[in-house]
Amino acid sequence: MNTSIPHPFMVSRRRFLRQSFAFSALASLGSIPGWSGTLAAEPKSSGAGGADLLMVGDWGDDDDQIAQNEVASGMQRYARDKAVNPQALLMLGDNWYGELAGGVHSPRWQTQFEQMYPADVFPGPAYAILGNHDYQKWPESKVEAELEYAKQRKTRWTMPARWYRFEFPATNPLITFLALDSNMPFKDGTSEHGKDFTLTAAEQAEQLTWFEGELKRPRKTPFLAVMGHHPVYSDGPHGDHPVLMRDWDPLFRKYKVDLYLAGHDHDLQHLEFEGHPTTHFLSGGGGADLYNLKIDSTTRGPFAQKVYGFSHLSVTEKQLTLRHLDPTGHILHAFTKTPEGKISVLT
Ligand SMILES: [Fe+2]
Ligand SMILES: [Zn+2]
Repeated sequence: MNTSIPHPFMVSRRRFLRQSFAFSALASLGSIPGWSGTLAAEPKSSGAGGADLLMVGDWGDDDDQIAQNEVASGMQRYARDKAVNPQALLMLGDNWYGELAGGVHSPRWQTQFEQMYPADVFPGPAYAILGNHDYQKWPESKVEAELEYAKQRKTRWTMPARWYRFEFPATNPLITFLALDSNMPFKDGTSEHGKDFTLTAAEQAEQLTWFEGELKRPRKTPFLAVMGHHPVYSDGPHGDHPVLMRDWDPLFRKYKVDLYLAGHDHDLQHLEFEGHPTTHFLSGGGGADLYNLKIDSTTRGPFAQKVYGFSHLSVTEKQLTLRHLDPTGHILHAFTKTPEGKISVLT
């Protein structure tokens, strides 16, 4: 037997260990499965008492929508073929690129939301947050249009405010979500640049006070997730976000947020940091043009890939399972996380 041929498990394990940013999960490395990993990563519905959510970011393309359609069709096929039964969607911002003429009456709501992510496959709520492309007056405020569309209550589109809390599932909840607005004022301190705008400094402060207030509240669920369009840390071209690192990251650490979900960089990522309780998970492959990564995932990971796709979050009382998938439903990366923070990479 030629022992010089590395077992694939050893390769992936060595690669995992080589990361210069050692993971908080190092202690759990022994639980990384080898060949069985791919099998264990295969999706199956979380079953009774569990919850399955699909997420997609950076999806409402204003160009030809070929890639958005490909990813959305892939999500439908995945849900049907794998019998995943997603009970909710998470729409991670940059919901509308370009013009949304007519606001709530724009036909884009039908063609690019209701029909691409259809209610017969995704009957649950679609919890949405706002990205930088939503913060545009094109021709009127797309932020106002998105809040208004949710208010009509005729649709799954859920955005009760620019920042809000929900628990999921509604009965016997397993995970608390704090949905935030990451559109911080521009570097010059203003909140208006032509058709682009942001939160004002007063709104930024108001949200931060609300956020910490919610983190302090007693929680009934084993897991806590925060979602915001802009990543706090990213291997993509937008890089790490100094304002979110200053304002949000210390709260993630202090209140032991299990998961931060973001988009904005058009790729799929999973980052872990030594001693940090929070998994940083980015799903920005919903249809807008892809960007080149700035940091290789062997330097900071364990996973970052320039690829179209979507992501699947399964929650049970015992663990979270997160998967990044390409439009064909192929699993690119999958891992589990326990309430104690133990991470096991499946594939
Ligand atoms: Fe985007
Ligand atoms: Zn963005």
